[in-house]
Amino acid sequence: MPDPNAPEILMTGPMMAYVTDQLKARFVVHELWNASDRAALLAEVAGRVRGVAAGGGHNRVDGALFDALPKLEMVASFGVGYDHIDAAEAGRRGITVSNTPDVLTDEVADLALGLLIATVRQLPQVDRYLREGKWLKGAYPLTTSLRGRTVGIVGLGRIGKAVAKRVEAFGLPVVYHGRSRQEDVAYRYYPSLVEMAADVDTLISVAPGGASTHHIINADVLKALGPNGILVNVGRGTVVDEQALIQALKDKTILSAGLDVFEDEPRVPAELIAIDHAVLLPHVGSASVYTREQMGQLVVDNLVSWFDGKGPLTPVSETPWKKA
Ligand code: NAP
Ligand code: 8YV
Repeated sequence: MPDPNAPEILMTGPMMAYVTDQLKARFVVHELWNASDRAALLAEVAGRVRGVAAGGGHNRVDGALFDALPKLEMVASFGVGYDHIDAAEAGRRGITVSNTPDVLTDEVADLALGLLIATVRQLPQVDRYLREGKWLKGAYPLTTSLRGRTVGIVGLGRIGKAVAKRVEAFGLPVVYHGRSRQEDVAYRYYPSLVEMAADVDTLISVAPGGASTHHIINADVLKALGPNGILVNVGRGTVVDEQALIQALKDKTILSAGLDVFEDEPRVPAELIAIDHAVLLPHVGSASVYTREQMGQLVVDNLVSWFDGKGPLTPVSETPWKKA
């Protein structure tokens, strides 16, 4: 049990016991997601809550919540992507926001390569073929190959670079698109995404969500990628125009797609599910026990550090915090 005078925090979504147990040992925790009457809980605790532990994904943390919590100082979010948090508005109000960078980079990059190979070599379909007893009647048809491909990475940040390193180890050339050229990177830079798509046959998107990336992978980009094209998306679903992608998969504008993220998670359009040659994963990029515990620990450590008066450990760029 924490000291009854410990700082009070609000959890917007469920987190694993590894995190919740540590939070409850140190803070007075209010579980908004678990309340039968959320408005009543908020009204009761609003004047005392100083921190928020934000589950990644689907619970928005924005001006409406900030309005409701006048004493709020710190939002610690689970996940590196924080497009569900209005960090700019938090910054304007002097509220600190932290995320969980780096600790998940390798896990997500591993998954991206697994998804790429699964898509190109049709691993889920081949597995289904064996289970359905079809091997007894003949070999699975030959698949397309990773050999000879060129990979264009959309969003060459921490995870994008870890993906690039792995792609290079597989013997494939890497190029990239982002808002700006990175001087310390040897890969060819494309200021234009559509021009990069025209020059490669494999796109891996690791770009964040939000307004600046919304639907940047659109019908024109998919057309430029072409009939041998593979799209892998492990960044955010909103980066891809999902309807344009469904059309491109149906009419063979591109060959296939491997997707870990979707526009309206956890809802995936039935039309996409019906496309047997795509590989669809339920947002599992970082979803190992090992990595989720590292991410959870960083949520706890950020809150503890803040309420010990030492500032956030991993503040997002919109946060007004400056290291002394
Ligand atoms: P990061 O280091 O901040 O990298 C993001 C990259 O995206 C940067 O290189 C940035 O380059 C680029 N970018 C930003 N805005 C862009 C735009 N409008 N157009 C093109 N490129 C843009 O972040 P990270 O740690 O690599 O994580 C990247 C994202 O992966 C997260 O935000 C999250 O959405 C996603 N993610 C998914 C999973 C999963 O489970 N599938 C797990 C973790 C993370 P410039 O600034 O040069 O444009
Ligand atoms: C998280 C992610 O699992 O870190 C991110 O940005 O997308 C994933 O690692 C997700 O945010 C938690 O639901």
